[in-house]
Amino acid sequence: MFSRIARPTFCIANRSLTTSSQNNAKVAVLGASGGIGQPLSLLLKNSPLVGELSLFDIAHTPGVAADLSHIETRAHVTGYMGPDQLNAALKGCDVVVIPAGVPRKPGMTRDDLFNTNATIVATLADAVARNCPEAMICIIANPVNSTIPITSEVMKKYGVYNPNRVFGVTTLDIVRANAFVAELKGLDPARVNVPVIGGHAGKTIIPLISQATPKVEFPADQLSALTARIQDAGTEVVKAKAGAGSATLSMAYAGARFTFSVLDAMNGKEGVVECAYVRSEETECKYFSTPLLLGKHGIEKNLGLGKLSAFEENLVADAIGELKGSIKKGEDFVANMK
Ligand SMILES: NC(=O)c1ccc[n+]([C@@H]2O[C@H](COP(=O)([O-])OP(=O)(O)OC[C@H]3O[C@@H](n4cnc5c(N)ncnc54)[C@H](O)[C@@H]3O)[C@@H](O)[C@H]2O)c1
Repeated sequence: MFSRIARPTFCIANRSLTTSSQNNAKVAVLGASGGIGQPLSLLLKNSPLVGELSLFDIAHTPGVAADLSHIETRAHVTGYMGPDQLNAALKGCDVVVIPAGVPRKPGMTRDDLFNTNATIVATLADAVARNCPEAMICIIANPVNSTIPITSEVMKKYGVYNPNRVFGVTTLDIVRANAFVAELKGLDPARVNVPVIGGHAGKTIIPLISQATPKVEFPADQLSALTARIQDAGTEVVKAKAGAGSATLSMAYAGARFTFSVLDAMNGKEGVVECAYVRSEETECKYFSTPLLLGKHGIEKNLGLGKLSAFEENLVADAIGELKGSIKKGEDFVANMK
């Protein structure tokens, strides 16, 4: 029996892993030369789950691919650069991870990235729909609350939309919540699991501390401060980087963790659970993040919100308006695309 909050095993390269944990998945990273793309590609190259690693960007991919290809692991690396090579990069891909797009600078919200990133994500989703419509699509590019509706609408235009295969990667919020709770309680972070639901921007990020394992309790003021820190953790990094971008290394870790969970489940591993922002019937929002049981064909079962505390119920109520607005903005963008 799976647990809705079981933590997936995250295993980076281990050359002694048995062949049963290998597969020949072809994974593409679109935006592979970027701050997230490069360390994410490194982690994927180190995994026995990846047989082929296809790296696409509008710049620098030949260098990144040549560099990674010298690592003594089995994943075969190819680099593709520029729009002319996008189709070739995507042919036959099982999983497509998309960190392409501009990151925040201090003072910006994720929604401020919409104008630039909406076009980038729509263009890349269009290419996925034409070249590997069956692939699992993992979108990292912000604003995730809108880029998932955008991707879904583009896939619909081609008649290839499968809601069980389109994921907004919110794993970094879970990773941060685990790290912060462990720090406050003196626990081993590897043993902590805090589900985070809702979306991936400010108050739409809803950590469910009441469902954390192991069970933890905080006085009301500390719970509010911890929740606010998890919601604003991205901004903490943006400020600290002082104009040099947003979270890249922790995001690469989180993106790799999510991709490995998807690949593990595709490989037949049972009980793989991750939170992600997906098409959902769990609330009045069309898209919402909750824990998901993953399987061979993507989402096997949406495990829902679970039992919320009164504090968490208020957070959900507070997030709905903003989420609906971000979803509509994404849908309208595709409807008005030429
Ligand atoms: N989901 C999350 O939790 C999360 C966390 C951090 C950052 N992000 C988002 O991830 C995105 C990337 O961040 P970053 O720090 O890596 O930025 P970056 O600027 O360092 O890298 C972005 C890369 O995308 C490439 N790119 C731009 N347009 C492209 C296109 N049309 N096709 C392919 N590649 C293209 C750029 O050349 C660059 O290499 C941003 O939108 C950021 O907001 C999401």
